Order: sequence, then C-alpha cells, then structure tokens
Amino acid sequence: METSRKNVWLFSLSLMIIIRLCIGEYFDNINNTGRIPIIINTWAFDQANKAGWSLLEKNKSSLDAIVAACSECEYLQCDHTVGWGGSPDENGETTLDAMIMDGATHRIGSVAALRQVKNVIAVAKAVMEHSSHTMLVGDQATDFAIAMGFSKENLSSQWSINQFEQWKASGCQPNYWENVHPNPRNHCGPYEPLDEYEFNDDKFRYKIIDRNNHDTIGAVAIDHNGRIASGTSTNGMKHKIPGRVGDSPIPGAGSYADQDVGGAAATGDGDIILRFLSSYQAVENLRNGMDPTQAANAALGRIIRKYPKAQVGIVVLDIHGNYGAACLNIDDGFPFIVRSRSQSQPSKHLVECLSTSDFRPNSILTIRSDFKFTFWIIFYTIFYLIVHENFDYQN
Ligand SMILES: *[C@@H]1O[C@H](CO)[C@@H](O)[C@H](O)[C@H]1NC(C)=O
Ligand SMILES: *[C@@H]1O[C@H](CO)[C@@H](O)[C@H](O)[C@H]1NC(C)=O
Ligand SMILES: *[C@@H]1O[C@H](CO)[C@@H](O)[C@H](O)[C@H]1NC(C)=O
Repeated sequence: METSRKNVWLFSLSLMIIIRLCIGEYFDNINNTGRIPIIINTWAFDQANKAGWSLLEKNKSSLDAIVAACSECEYLQCDHTVGWGGSPDENGETTLDAMIMDGATHRIGSVAALRQVKNVIAVAKAVMEHSSHTMLVGDQATDFAIAMGFSKENLSSQWSINQFEQWKASGCQPNYWENVHPNPRNHCGPYEPLDEYEFNDDKFRYKIIDRNNHDTIGAVAIDHNGRIASGTSTNGMKHKIPGRVGDSPIPGAGSYADQDVGGAAATGDGDIILRFLSSYQAVENLRNGMDPTQAANAALGRIIRKYPKAQVGIVVLDIHGNYGAACLNIDDGFPFIVRSRSQSQPSKHLVECLSTSDFRPNSILTIRSDFKFTFWIIFYTIFYLIVHENFDYQN
C-alpha cells in the first residue's frame, strides 16, 4: 500500500533525525572536560610541562602555569634555544623574545630583542600587568624590566661564546643576508646592498634551518576554572642579524588564545610563521568547526603552498580539552608533551609531518573535513535500510 510505504519512510526519517540530534553533538564536539586542567607544550620539554602542571594541579591560573613552564625552560636553557647563554646573534650577543596571552580578556604582554634580563616570560607578564601596552622591545624593554625589579645580567655563556667563535671561524656561515656584496654565502660582513637581485628566500632557508637553531617553547594551558592562556619563550635564531624578531613574541604568530574556542602555539622557522599568523589561523580554524588536528593541518597548509620547505610545528588545544598538532619538514616528526587531569603522567606525542601531497586540490584535508558528512550519510542509509527491512508493509 502506498500510505504504508510513506509511513515507513516518515517513521524512519523522524527516528534518524532524533538519533542525529541526540548523539550528533557528541561526535561533533566531544566534551573532554574531564581532562581539564590541561597543559600542552612544543618539543620534548618535559621539565617545562611538569613545572606548568604543578601549578595547574594546585588550582593556580593558566597564566601562572604558562609563566612557570616557560621560566623552567629559560632556567634549563632548553636545547640552548630558550633562555640566556644560547643562540648568539652576529655580534655574539644573546637576546630574548617572549609573549603571554590571556584568552579570557585578550590581554597580552610581549617583549622582543630583550637584552641583559634572563626571565623574559616574566618580563612579558609584567608588560601585561603593569602597563596598558602590549609589546616592548630592545634596550627600552630592559629599562622597563629593571624598573619592575628584574636584575641586569650577562646573557653570554661559554657555550654561546664558543658558538660565536666557531661561526666567525667558518667565514660567518650560516647567515641570513641576501642580495648583498660581498657574497654572504662565503664572506663575512660588512655588506652592501646589491643593485640587482632576485628573490631566493625559499631556496636558501632549507639548508640552514634545523631544529637546533629554532626551537621555541610554546605552551597552551586551561586551568581548573576553564580559563585558557598561551605563551612562548625563545632566544631566537642562532646567528640572527642583530635586531631580528621572529614569530615567538608576535601575538597570533607565536601563540594565540581565545576563551571561546581554544589556543595554539607555533615553533620553527619564525620568519615564515609570522608571515602567516599560524597560531591565529589555527584558532580561527577551530572557530570554523575543525577539530584541533584539522585546525593545525589547515593552518600549516597555508604555509606549505608558499614555502614547501619551511620547518614548522604547531600545537592546538580546544576549549573542551581536545588537542592536536601538525608539522612541516621536521625530519623525525614533531614531539610535544601533554599533561591533563585524566593522566597520572605527562604523555609525550610525536606527530609525523605533512607533505605537499596532503595539500593538493581535493586533498586529504578536504576529505578529512568531509568525513563527518560522509559518515552521517552512510549512517542514515544503513538505518533506513534496516527499518525498511523490518517493517512489514505488504499486508
Ligand atoms: C562539559 O561537560 C560538563 C559536565 O560533564 C559540563 O559541566 C560542561 O558545561 C560541559 N562543557 C562544555 C563546554 O560543553
Ligand atoms: C582545586 O579545586 C577543586 C575543585 O574546586 C577542589 O576539589 C580541590 O580540592 C582544589 N585543590 C586544591 C589543591 O586547592
Ligand atoms: C659574560 O659572560 C661571559 C661568559 O662567562 C664572559 O666571557 C664575558 O666576559 C662576560 N661579559 C661581561 C660583560 O661580563
């Protein structure tokens, strides 16, 4: 009978809609509140994670946890790429960059090219708390820090002095000069600009950038009140041209946090990351409905199209406690550390880097974001068939 057939159809359709409404949200946005508080940080800096977690565990704020995690790396001179005594610039001097962001208020404190003060993340927090500015740089940032009670110290170590001496002995290789005379690929400066030149930024980068000259600690944390914060600390690229600032202290590039959706922190080739505001992009991707892994992938997808050889890593944490990460061109993959309420130990993760083939038109990214849609279509079809099969409308 025609009416029976129609009833079957209407019945199964309404059942499917009810089921979709009941469990769909669960699949779309898994609420991992059981994980909160949580802290995630770039690289295998487990001591930093531990320092941040120890405060979250005591119900301290995510801002305090970020300061603790970054300060620990500064103190330990993680990989010589965070804190004093590492990454000498072309004058042999170590300068520091850091930022901190409160996702609930969008207050930010940032310092760049800071000289002679060791605890740069704490100076960044002081900029946030004791001024209505967002960013201070160079000698004047040092003056501000001294006024706020920090002490002036020597940021050189025997290690940084040795690195600087070796660099000079190697004819100032590598360096970051381009289109200058004499040829910077085999001469030291001083240099003069060339009148005619071509852009070769990309070809050049791949050879000299490796993980030993651009690690940064970047961290994102949510405290027991559900409040999110993010931050970074670094001494920048080894042998940088004095005055160079990378992505780390730039809000939206080095890190970003928004109470509505989540946060992100990036590491790697900072001169490239800050051209794409990758942390901001990843957070916006969360806002547009991607999960943290998709958000991380899509943020780096923006970079790989223009700089296929750039080395970048990013960690993303959504406000529900879900996290993900992605990387480009880091040989052994990109490690990161997570500690949350649901874990008794920090977990070390390693994400394999994306390749350009992941970003061709109609690529994996499109498929990944279409996955939920496809899943539900298949679910509806199977469900309809089952209901249809079990409904006897022949009589
Ligand atoms: C997540 O679930 C908890 C209870 O399990 C609830 O209190 C909280 O409001 C939920 N959070 C979000 C963001 O949905
Ligand atoms: C932290 O807060 C939670 C929930 O409010 C409470 O159960 C716990 O005892 C607190 N822990 C400390 C160390 O204050
Ligand atoms: C800073 O420390 C280094 C390494 O210990 C030392 O060689 C250098 O002389 C010191 N610089 C100043 C200005 O004290």
